[in-house]
Amino acid sequence: MGQPRLRSCAGAFAPFHLCAALFFCTLQAEAVPALAEDFESVNLELGVSHVDKKVNERFLSVAIDADLMAQEKFMYLLGSPKLRILAKALTPAFLRFGGTEQDFMQFRPQREPFSSNDHSSLHYPGHSCDRFELPPLLEKRLKQEWALQASVLQHEELLGKFDRKNFSESAVDLLYAFANCSGLDLIFGLNALLRTPDNVWDSQNAELLMNYCDSRQYIMSWELGNEPNSYEKKAGVRVDGYQLGQDFLHLHKVLQKTRIYRSSGLYGPDVGQPRNHRKDLLTGFLETASNAIDACTWHHYYVNGRDTSLEDFKDPEVLDRLAVKTNEVLETVHSVSPGKRVWLGETSSAYGGGALGLSDTFVAGFMWLDKLGLAAKLGLDVVIRQVLIGSGTYHLVDDNLDPLPDYWLSVLYKRLVGPEVLKVEVASNSKQKRLLRVYLHCTNRKSSSYRQGSVTLFALNLSKNQATLSLPALFSNSTIEAYVLQSAEPGVDGLQSRAARLNGVLLKMVDEQTFPPLQGTDLRPGEHLKLPGLSFAFYVVKQARAPVC
Ligand SMILES: *[C@@H]1O[C@H](CO)[C@@H](O)[C@H](O)[C@H]1NC(C)=O
Ligand SMILES: *[C@@H]1O[C@H](CO)[C@@H](O)[C@H](O)[C@H]1NC(C)=O
Ligand SMILES: *[C@@H]1O[C@H](CO)[C@@H](O)[C@H](O)[C@H]1NC(C)=O
Ligand SMILES: *[C@@H]1O[C@H](CO)[C@@H](O)[C@H](O)[C@H]1NC(C)=O
Repeated sequence: MGQPRLRSCAGAFAPFHLCAALFFCTLQAEAVPALAEDFESVNLELGVSHVDKKVNERFLSVAIDADLMAQEKFMYLLGSPKLRILAKALTPAFLRFGGTEQDFMQFRPQREPFSSNDHSSLHYPGHSCDRFELPPLLEKRLKQEWALQASVLQHEELLGKFDRKNFSESAVDLLYAFANCSGLDLIFGLNALLRTPDNVWDSQNAELLMNYCDSRQYIMSWELGNEPNSYEKKAGVRVDGYQLGQDFLHLHKVLQKTRIYRSSGLYGPDVGQPRNHRKDLLTGFLETASNAIDACTWHHYYVNGRDTSLEDFKDPEVLDRLAVKTNEVLETVHSVSPGKRVWLGETSSAYGGGALGLSDTFVAGFMWLDKLGLAAKLGLDVVIRQVLIGSGTYHLVDDNLDPLPDYWLSVLYKRLVGPEVLKVEVASNSKQKRLLRVYLHCTNRKSSSYRQGSVTLFALNLSKNQATLSLPALFSNSTIEAYVLQSAEPGVDGLQSRAARLNGVLLKMVDEQTFPPLQGTDLRPGEHLKLPGLSFAFYVVKQARAPVC
């Protein structure tokens, strides 16, 4: 590639009051040699003088499905020191504990009900991080048993029949200890299917739980009910938006009466993505209870895990569906309760527990990173990934507690991407515009040592071929640190690898407690960004001197 030629750089030195109008710099790279079919040059337009959206500091958050508690002994997995270290690298973040099972579980205020001897000495309160660590032998056994449990749970979900379950104080302690000791902010999903004969939410069991958590000084926030739009299917109960809103108003009052949850967060209604009557449910809910909630939550999956393909996972049309659904939800929320923040309260690639060999492999990163980029760009405040560990095959950390490619992607996102969303566009003259997706934020300076004014570009190349990205000349003097993520194995087949490479180096824990270095590669100032086919990357433009970063 030759030297880039500056085409236009309007308003770069405009006075600040004019900066609501972005300064867009366009750069035209020299024509691509016609021979190189596997190679395309793309010009980017960056707007660095204006923050377009600002998302929550905990934007990338994670979930643990309540089905981990279906058999309480599995909650001990959360005592794994390795898992805590992995979780800590994702902070600050919310930890949502919820899912279908939350509406079938009741709190029994008693200590642990386990009969087996090897658990009985493991009582500990949720604050004592050092005093409890899951012993390696027990961890090993639980991991083996979880594989069996996972297939039982999967079967239950397939049948759509959910047994009622109890959980004890010990299970709550284990959950809280995990959240607190890894630095995650716990959101607990209460059972909304405990209802009176008049179909009004019965708060007694929630109050028991809150009293217990209060007595332990557990700091947490709350949700009520999971995907109420499908209660009829799951439990033969129909709850409309107005009634659910009344239930939330009641919960809000209950929280006001406690000492420590008076000002804690309340989020809902955790509806599925808009489809016919679901929209009515959301509207009715917000009309009734929007003042009681701190954010409006909805759930999103791109595809059905039992009926999807490798192609779906990197199809720009599939990825664009998120924008359509998000805009529908935002429209509803903004019309009924303007200004209310909107969260993806539970989200992943494929519903029904994921898609084995896809949602747990490198290719899942296209859906995940694109979702992170698009959701922030559209103005969603928080995105809660289903799941950190456990449940299904869409986890970030697998059943052996080893990190999957989406985990590494998430850690890099946390380190490099700040909450300020900036504008970036692929110049319209680019042929393969559809297959290249780019997002721009201020660099996260809280968790990294980058200097003021630096920006982080992240890009996905959905094509087989390498892309060369050119930045505006304004940034030609800046050092750029590249973090290119590729599958551990080459080619389209390699996309289904359960391992990833960062700048060519295989990503894996050094040992149970030690992270690999996760280093970027410095590019020379003015060097083009080469994004290999079927890969994605973060680029930190270290001296971008963005006035808003
Ligand atoms: C839950 O606890 C209640 C009260 O202790 C008990 O009657 C019920 O059988 C328990 N349910 C299950 C599924 O264990
Ligand atoms: C963990 O618990 C301590 C002690 O109560 C508290 O100060 C801290 O804020 C908690 N951290 C989280 C993330 O909940
Ligand atoms: C993606 O990478 C391939 C090379 O592996 C390249 O040919 C293609 O042009 C890139 N796509 C875009 C949109 O730049
Ligand atoms: C880059 O550095 C050169 C030499 O110091 C300087 O002349 C030029 O103005 C700089 N360009 C930008 C865009 O800052």
